Amino acid sequence: MYSDNVMERFRAAKNAGTLKGANGRGEVGNVTCGDIMRMYLLVDTKTDIIRDAKFKTFGCVAAIVSTDIACDLIKGKTIEEALLVKNTDVIREMGGSIPPKKIHCSVLAQESIEAAIADYKKFKAKLETK
Ligand code: FES
Repeated sequence: MYSDNVMERFRAAKNAGTLKGANGRGEVGNVTCGDIMRMYLLVDTKTDIIRDAKFKTFGCVAAIVSTDIACDLIKGKTIEEALLVKNTDVIREMGGSIPPKKIHCSVLAQESIEAAIADYKKFKAKLETK
């Protein structure tokens, strides 16, 4: 069902794990399949550039690979640039095609970015009111 590249990335997902000092955390899930994704961001509060991103995903191969790719796609970007990363970008990085029933896994990766950035924005808003 998956290409060799996708399986390789699944076995050695380099962005797997949590992030010490993360200032943006997002959790999303899909009620139908039950998969859950957590994304952790370390964002420079002066520039809003994402310095690091890690994930913990409890789910299928496509979900794990999608979040690993999503982390790579947003590192080094500002939060506004990262919000432009869509599930279609994730699919492209996976080699361009995934089974139709797995498209929602890439959508979940996009949503995990959005959730983590929304959390970071709350963190930053609190900082600015201090
Ligand atoms: Fe639901 Fe992959 S099957 S996220």
